[in-house]
Amino acid sequence: LMATQDELKQQVGYKAVDDYVKSGMVVGLGTGSTAYFAVERLGQKLASGELKDIVAIPTSVRTKEQAEELKIPLVTLDTHSKLDVAIDGADEVDPDLNLVKGGGGALLREKMVEVCADKFIVIVDESKLCDGLGPGFPLPVEITPFCHEHTLRLIANLPTTKGCEAILRMGSSSTNKPDGDEIAVTDNGNYIVDLHFKEPIKDAPKMAMELKNTVGVVDHGLFCGMTTAVIIAGSDGITVKEA
Ligand code: A5P
Repeated sequence: LMATQDELKQQVGYKAVDDYVKSGMVVGLGTGSTAYFAVERLGQKLASGELKDIVAIPTSVRTKEQAEELKIPLVTLDTHSKLDVAIDGADEVDPDLNLVKGGGGALLREKMVEVCADKFIVIVDESKLCDGLGPGFPLPVEITPFCHEHTLRLIANLPTTKGCEAILRMGSSSTNKPDGDEIAVTDNGNYIVDLHFKEPIKDAPKMAMELKNTVGVVDHGLFCGMTTAVIIAGSDGITVKEA
C-alpha cells in the first residue's frame, strides 16, 4: 500500500519529535503542512506526560494558534534566545542541505527562530529534494511595503538574480500562487516577492548575501548552512541526511 503525501509528512513530523525532543528543552515550532504534524506530536507527548518542562517558540501566527490549542507552553526569543532544537519543513532541499523556505510566507520568523537553535531539523517528503535550488520552486523574498515596486526591481536585477521573473505575491501570504486581487501581507505586515528562476541557482550563499544587502529587503527564503539534519520520507521509508 502506497503512503499518501500526508502520511509521509506525518511520519517525518512525528519522528523529528520522537528522536530530537527531550524533556526540559526549548523547541522551535515550524510552519506548514509538515511542521503541523511535529507540533501535533509535541502536543500529544506533553498531554500524555511523556515529555515535561518544554517551552516552545512558534514561527507564525498559524503555528502559535495550533500550539495554543494543544496547550503547548509558549515563550518568545525575547526571553529565550537559545533553543535546543527547531523543527520545520522546507520547500526545497539541495544536496548541501541548503533550503528554500517561505512558500507558506513565514520565512522571517522561521529564520529568526531557527538560527538560534543548536539543532535545526528539517522534515520533508522526498518531493522536496532537488539537485539545485530555484527552478522547482520560486524563492520568496520578504520586503517592506514602502515603495515595493522599486524594491522588486532592485532584487530582480542583482548580479545573481538577473533573468529571474519577480512576482509580487497576491492573495494569501501562505501560498505562492498569485490567487487574489489584494497584495499578500505577512505576519509582520510586509510583502513577499516570489523569484522564479529557469536555471538552478549557482551560488546560493552569494545570492543570499546580495538579497540581504538590498535596502528594503527584510529577509529571504534561502536558508544556507543552517541545517543539522534532514528527515526524508519516501516510498522506500524514512532516511536521515546529516550536514
Ligand atoms: C513556511 O513559510 C515555509 O517555509 C514552510 O516551512 C514550507 O513551505 C514547507 O511547508 P510544507 O511542509 O507545507 O510543504
